Amino acid sequence: MKTLISSDVSLLANLIQEGKVVIFPTETVYGIGASTKNEVACLRVYEIKGRPKDNPLIAHFPSIESIEDACVLGDLGRKLLEKFSPGPLTLILSKKDKSLFPKELDTLAVRIPKNPVIREWIRLTGGPVSAPSANLSGRPSLTKLTDVVRYFEGKVDGILIAEEPSFGIESTVVSLVGEHPTLLRPGSIESEELKTFLPDLVVPNLFETSPARSLSTVPLSPGTKYKHYAPSAHVILASTDEFIHSFQVGFDPKETAWIGFSCPEKVRKGKLTQDLEKTSAKEEEGFTKFDHFSIVSTNEEYASKLYAFFEACDLFNIQTIVCEAPKPGRGWEGLRNRLEKAAQKK
Ligand code: TXA
Ligand code: MG
Repeated sequence: MKTLISSDVSLLANLIQEGKVVIFPTETVYGIGASTKNEVACLRVYEIKGRPKDNPLIAHFPSIESIEDACVLGDLGRKLLEKFSPGPLTLILSKKDKSLFPKELDTLAVRIPKNPVIREWIRLTGGPVSAPSANLSGRPSLTKLTDVVRYFEGKVDGILIAEEPSFGIESTVVSLVGEHPTLLRPGSIESEELKTFLPDLVVPNLFETSPARSLSTVPLSPGTKYKHYAPSAHVILASTDEFIHSFQVGFDPKETAWIGFSCPEKVRKGKLTQDLEKTSAKEEEGFTKFDHFSIVSTNEEYASKLYAFFEACDLFNIQTIVCEAPKPGRGWEGLRNRLEKAAQKK
């Protein structure tokens, strides 16, 4: 299949109208979209991703008014959208328009992307556009055009070129349909901010997962591959002390990569870096130089770089990725959740 890769919003809107599948960037991650009014096209999205059929899609709208035409918004929903949209907030609402995908559900996940170019594109498609994150099911979401092209050229009808994602993790999902509003997925909009509007917000224990791999429990050699929104490499979630310690002992630096806040200059400039200068075969094949360290200064920057770093690590056959735990405070909630998932034993 020929994939149209273009920044021409009307050409790519036409594709959606014709029942085709188009990948587009949002401020969170790339989405793989089809018309919410076209069941066959939406089902193709599931095929392309290998996504389980029981996992519904988010419908992307251009405006609050367009959401109100499709769903029961209510005062609370309107207030939340007025405060946090356009932006990384997804609400689960009751459907008014029962013909929207997925037809068998009475609820619809709705969100308004931040970039005005994307909202214009959705408007031109006749909207809404249903889209899960653009990744193969089980792998991390994608945040770079180069990765999107590598995975999906030839598999989708179009790829819209526009501003790349900046938040880097998927939207916060809040359900407004049950007895109490409930946080279904943490993200950049955090539960504390939401509670200003939703004092009775139910926040499930976000980190009650099977134990994450820690430095003390994981064998230092490659092992099983993990499939839960995780790269192929082992992901280890480390405290700051463990993170710094791991530069010095135990890991083969050629097969290991690090992402976090703490990277003393002496480690960067020392023996470890010299060892790594004997570059890998991939660099000779023309890939850009791989940096085994991704140093960040805030949780937000960490989130924005995380998935692209995971992709680069897999491309360069890194076996172990050591991730420093995020700092408590702003940006912690969603990032911590994604790191826990990536480091989860399966
Ligand atoms: O940032 C994002 O949300 C990205 C961009 C592309 O918008 N999209 C995304 O989609 O992450 P996806 O499919 O990977 O995640 C959507 C989440 C899933 O956990 C899904 O189960 C949930 O939203 N969801 C969708 N419709 C729902 C519904 N009607 N009721 C409850 N949960 C729903
Ligand atoms: Mg996803």
